[in-house]
Amino acid sequence: MISEKSKQTIDKWIAKYPKGQQQSAVMEALKLSQIDNGGYLDKKCIEAVADYLDMSVISVAEVATFYENYNHKPVAKYTVRFCHNISCMLNGADNLIDYLEAKINAEKLGELVQVKKVECLGACVGAPMCQINDDYFENLNEQKINEIISGLK
Ligand code: FES
Repeated sequence: MISEKSKQTIDKWIAKYPKGQQQSAVMEALKLSQIDNGGYLDKKCIEAVADYLDMSVISVAEVATFYENYNHKPVAKYTVRFCHNISCMLNGADNLIDYLEAKINAEKLGELVQVKKVECLGACVGAPMCQINDDYFENLNEQKINEIISGLK
């Protein structure tokens, strides 16, 4: 599945690369197809991207399964990607992840919010931090997590 709007964006990415190198747009195409498909990539998405970029299905599947940004089954409305790499870990990420997961369980928000532990998201100066869908939240503590979760309901 690739919407017409997404195809227009993919075409802009293809134009950035030399003629015949349209496969260089595969990551953006997968990202857009995932959005068009409600947050995850199924077989039809992989095939649509392969067809649009004139790639083999296995080559697209290799990219889609290598990077953790791509989901392969339905996801909750909010995906919290919580960094637990060195800067965030040293600033209490592990305890905050435990706190967040306990809060989600206690408030029965498991169908609304899912948590993934991820590697560095490039915002170490704001450690500990997480990404919720497309937004970054930095310098986290329990109070900020409470506020963020309240805003997601
Ligand atoms: S270590 Fe967490 S953002 Fe870099």
